Amino acid sequence: MDEETAARLGAWRRHLHAHPELSTEERETAAFVAARLDEMGIPFVAGVGGHGVVATLSRPGSERSVALRADMDALPIPEETNLAHASTRPGVMHACGHDGHTASLLGAALLLARDASWRGTVRLVFQPAEEGGGGPRAMLADGLIERFPFERIFGFHNWPGLEAGTVMVHPGPVMAAGRRFSVTLHGKAAHAALPHLAKDPMLAAAHLMLALQSIVARNVSPLDAAVVTIGMIEAGNAPNQIPETATLRGTFRSYREEVHELIDGAIRRIAEGIAASFGMTAEIAMLRGNLATINTREEAELAAAAAAAAGLSVRRDLAPSMTGEDFSWYLQKKPGTFAWIGNGTNEGGRDLHSPHYDFNDAILPAAATFLAASARAALEE
Ligand code: NI
Repeated sequence: MDEETAARLGAWRRHLHAHPELSTEERETAAFVAARLDEMGIPFVAGVGGHGVVATLSRPGSERSVALRADMDALPIPEETNLAHASTRPGVMHACGHDGHTASLLGAALLLARDASWRGTVRLVFQPAEEGGGGPRAMLADGLIERFPFERIFGFHNWPGLEAGTVMVHPGPVMAAGRRFSVTLHGKAAHAALPHLAKDPMLAAAHLMLALQSIVARNVSPLDAAVVTIGMIEAGNAPNQIPETATLRGTFRSYREEVHELIDGAIRRIAEGIAASFGMTAEIAMLRGNLATINTREEAELAAAAAAAAGLSVRRDLAPSMTGEDFSWYLQKKPGTFAWIGNGTNEGGRDLHSPHYDFNDAILPAAATFLAASARAALEE
């Protein structure tokens, strides 16, 4: 990619970074994408599944079709980077690099529009609401595949800690399935000095917290990957009161449906059992989350070969991650591949979802090239 194009993508990326929008609220981001597509003369449809934008590049001579996808939303995290292009919106930040993903897909659009060598149809899918907002489900329900048919789909996530611009392609599992849950223990409030009159939900919560750690250790096969994490405990009003309720909120991850169901069942069994042993009740809620993101082998090989042929550095050796990604919803419908592209060092807190994170503009050419090359290779086959 020439320097001028790279600089243009960088400027777009920093504009998006300075103006982040939360899941399902990507109005200005979608308008920005639409304006760039208009400048490039690429037709698009906006408002697909919320603020989704789907653009189409088509050249006669082939019936083949492929989709490239980028996510557009930001996170409710107060930015602490002090960068010149830092978020102008208090409490909202592009802490996962979706600003970079969006700029990269616009870059791929530029590359594909300039390149007369390919034939067929490329769908550019700018997806809203990746961070738990159900973006793909909304786009699929809005007829994404019926209205904008494609045979295969490719996408990527920037990966802090992986060498800048290096493409990592997994042959199968990439990112885990996840489910959020909460357990509320309903006890009985009393004065802190009169514990015999209470049913202390905090003490039960402490036991539950420990017991939940036995699920992965003693229920899941050691040969299966799984994690159960409690990320929030909510209880108490005053140091001298035993409260009425205590709520634990967490998430669990695994790669197989059977393991997912096993963990779901174990959380319910342990929560109800512990609550009963303390003479109280447990109210349990499970929120269906992402499916596991599992690349199809043929498309993984195709993407890796296309990236290498385009001069990018390619790795095949990293283990999958237990983090989640809603690209999985597309892979339920169509074959495809989700790659990682190195964001460079993660020192100084440049990790995903960190207030110190920033997408590395230096990888925009590699990311745009990866997407464009994957699309071309898919159309050639
Ligand atoms: Ni992300």
